[in-house]
Amino acid sequence: MQNIKNYVNEHKDRFLNELIELLKIPSISADSAYKGDVIKTAKAVASSLDKAGCDKVEICETAGYPIIYAEKMIDPKLPTILVYGHYDVQPPDPINLWTSPPFEPVIKKTNLHPEGAIFARGACDDKGQMYMHVKALEYMTSQNELPCNVKFMIEGEEEVGSVNLAKYVKSNQKKLENDVILISDTGMIANDVPSITTGLRGLSYVEVEVTGPNRDLHSGLYGGAVANPINVLTKMIASLHDENNHITIPGFYDHVENLSNEERAQMAKAPFSLNDYKKALDIEAVYGEKGYTTNERNSIRPTLDVNGIWGGYTGEGAKTVIASKAYAKISMRLVPNQDWENITTLFKNHFENIAPKAVTIKVTPHHGGQGYVTPIDSIGYKAASKAYEATFGKTPIPQRSGGSIPIVALFEEELKSKTILMGFGLDSDAIHSPDEHFGVWNYLKGIETIPHFYKHFTELSK
Ligand code: BES
Ligand code: MN
Ligand code: MN
Repeated sequence: MQNIKNYVNEHKDRFLNELIELLKIPSISADSAYKGDVIKTAKAVASSLDKAGCDKVEICETAGYPIIYAEKMIDPKLPTILVYGHYDVQPPDPINLWTSPPFEPVIKKTNLHPEGAIFARGACDDKGQMYMHVKALEYMTSQNELPCNVKFMIEGEEEVGSVNLAKYVKSNQKKLENDVILISDTGMIANDVPSITTGLRGLSYVEVEVTGPNRDLHSGLYGGAVANPINVLTKMIASLHDENNHITIPGFYDHVENLSNEERAQMAKAPFSLNDYKKALDIEAVYGEKGYTTNERNSIRPTLDVNGIWGGYTGEGAKTVIASKAYAKISMRLVPNQDWENITTLFKNHFENIAPKAVTIKVTPHHGGQGYVTPIDSIGYKAASKAYEATFGKTPIPQRSGGSIPIVALFEEELKSKTILMGFGLDSDAIHSPDEHFGVWNYLKGIETIPHFYKHFTELSK
């Protein structure tokens, strides 16, 4: 395995250039104008897996974007690792806040990435992290170091809810049979503080529409006498949190898992500086649910956030108007045991209940998914831990993340195997934001660490 370090060193320029080519294709799954580019990316991923040594590569059509399935089976008696990732990316907006164009990747140095970071949409989420697995496989097949079987499943609709992947998984259980699922689509604490993600939050995403009068009205002639949907909507939204920042929806916390004091004390041991956190975000103070620390608020506690709100006149100058309609997009991050469909129903009922008679309410659920926690005594976790020890020289810290990969809970339900989340990004890598980037060091470290996981997983499975 010593060989992998040298191999990465020898091939790093090519590894970077190949990723840069992949990042140039704007595979924005949310925007149908980029359909051709998303499909082009799917083909590029398929061809990279073929070149990396898979002996079966399929572009599986779905009702949406294709799923790339590939495999290299060396012996049915050996364990099988299923690698999941996604080749689609978030829209780059607001585009004017990027310091370099989102689909023209460049390497720039940053404070946290003194060796440079690749700036591009998808650099970290998830093309860069997904491609680490392709290059790790290239190493293992070309150097005769592949110790077990491997299957790849790379989708193009993660950023829009993985609806077609869910169907694919449900109808291909046999084909996808595996002993462990391996994903790099999360982060770690810092380059000198490796960590393994042991939890993901669930998600319920809804859109609300509030309708008042049947047309936009003169705000002088009618103002004060009819409900203003924007006033009503903002008041309703404000009431969804109480003075302690608890969510007020009845039943919302019913199934929330309460961590023991011991577990919370364990969590609090992870290195974290509140000062650095505030400084990085240019904020005077943090804000959140009373009784919980910042790290608890963004991992083991559920949340409700407005993601977008609109209505009325927002153009230049002033227009005196009471809009007929107001809208908001709202996400709720959930913790394990909260059922996302149940939470969506609770939200809908509550929102309809608190609305004054003067307006009508429409709640439209978007996507969602369950949260996930993975145990730290599984073979998969132990193998990952040993892999980090080998390449970082430190035992990684288990850490729950606040983000969501809704399909992970479904993997466990349908495929009956545990997922190991070996993420190599940093929270500051600006995923989903302008100037997304991924450290060159992190990219290469990921490629180096993955083959160690294969080796230890195979050994521990014996
Ligand atoms: N890779 C992210 C999720 C993530 C990032 C988890 C960092 C943990 C740490 C994924 O691509 C993502 O953005 N998920 C969405 C949900 C999805 C349904 C759009 C999210 O978390 O908002
Ligand atoms: Mn992702
Ligand atoms: Mn994402």
